[in-house]
Amino acid sequence: MTERTLVLIKPDGVARRFVGEILSRVERKGLSITALEMKTADEALAGQHYAEHLGRPFYPGLIEFITSGPLVAAVLEGPRAIAAFRQLAGGTDPVEKAVPGSIRADLALDGQQNLVHGSDSVESAEREIALWFPELARG
Ligand code: PPS
Repeated sequence: MTERTLVLIKPDGVARRFVGEILSRVERKGLSITALEMKTADEALAGQHYAEHLGRPFYPGLIEFITSGPLVAAVLEGPRAIAAFRQLAGGTDPVEKAVPGSIRADLALDGQQNLVHGSDSVESAEREIALWFPELARG
């Protein structure tokens, strides 16, 4: 079944000039990029995006990091797009969790500066797409 997912190429990915590398992996996998925008998130948008992590010890650093510079937001579509992108990304910790061949295992070392974000469920994807691309919100 076709799904859509919200992906961020985080500020470290832009700063390290991996936008093309990451989008190339997305396209080689067979996912479609149906929306794409570079922007710098303000604290309000970052706080809404990461609302589920409010109160966790890493939350302040996470907000500081995600607002620290330009990022690329994208909507991807395809069969099982949510799981497919999370497979491409690899686990949160690029060393302990991400499997070799994934974006994070191949290109990152740090659990915060880990290059990409991908929605973790259909509900998260719809909530996050509505935040980053209000014009694409459903319902
Ligand atoms: S959890 O516990 O499953 O909710 O965590 P996870 O979804 O893997 O990661 C939550 C996001 O917070 C970022 N982050 C950290 N996670 C865990 N530990 C530390 N120290 C940490 N610092 C930052 C992590 O990169 C995840 O960001 P996203 O954008 O969701 O990938």
